[in-house]
Amino acid sequence: MAEDHKTIRMIVQRQDEPEALPYEEEFEIPYRKNMNVISALMEIRRNPVNAKGEQTTPVYWDMGCLEEVCGACSMVINGKAMQSCTALIDQLEQPVRLEPMKTFPVMRDLAVDRSRMFDSLKKVKAWVPIDGTYDLGEGPRMPESKRQWAYELSKCMTCGVCLEACPNVNSNSDFIGPAALSQVRLFNSHPTGAYHKAERMDALLDDGGLQNCGNSQNCVQACPKGIPLTTSIAALNREATLHSFKSFFGSDYQH
Ligand code: SF4
Ligand code: FES
Repeated sequence: MAEDHKTIRMIVQRQDEPEALPYEEEFEIPYRKNMNVISALMEIRRNPVNAKGEQTTPVYWDMGCLEEVCGACSMVINGKAMQSCTALIDQLEQPVRLEPMKTFPVMRDLAVDRSRMFDSLKKVKAWVPIDGTYDLGEGPRMPESKRQWAYELSKCMTCGVCLEACPNVNSNSDFIGPAALSQVRLFNSHPTGAYHKAERMDALLDDGGLQNCGNSQNCVQACPKGIPLTTSIAALNREATLHSFKSFFGSDYQH
């Protein structure tokens, strides 16, 4: 079959270690039907020879679930940040150009350190506090209309694509970014999570919080999970006004 002789051209931005300079390396690998970017990278790993026929080191990248749930495999593919596990070779123009996301420090080749995003989630207490020492029974019920939008927000896989798309997230800024903001809305909406709402809002009004959003709207277009990030940010802005008002005048009402 003609297909057996087809090849895929890939240009990979490589970096041997965090402080090293990046360089490009081209590969030509055998084509198979239905390949995704990860299966192409695995082919390079199996036979690490570049397009000049020179032996090289296997390309390094991160992955976990292989089904667009863990967010670990995000990279910039032909100029667009996305998940390499669901990026199909047949749908990409060649040469396929792979680069690491630029918003996060590069660990090696295509693998980046996403700690910035996890640190932001810690800063805003993006969790529901529960005492794990005894069985609490069933959790409190949520109204169905709220549960539906909260479920959409819960699909965030901390992939980092929205931070990569945002012009205000970079190494010169401490902006926590759209993902963490949206998670504040999610955890504030939970009946138990709401106990920490005031602390989360204080964190959002602090440096790197809500006021750093420039409303470019890039995040909502980039999110692979279709999370309504700008709706969350607008809702939080309204909440922040209310929160500042309550903090100024004092109130017993915390929900
Ligand atoms: S909000 Fe969307 S783009 Fe941002 S980290 Fe979560 S899943 Fe990724
Ligand atoms: S490997 Fe988990 S999202 Fe791609």
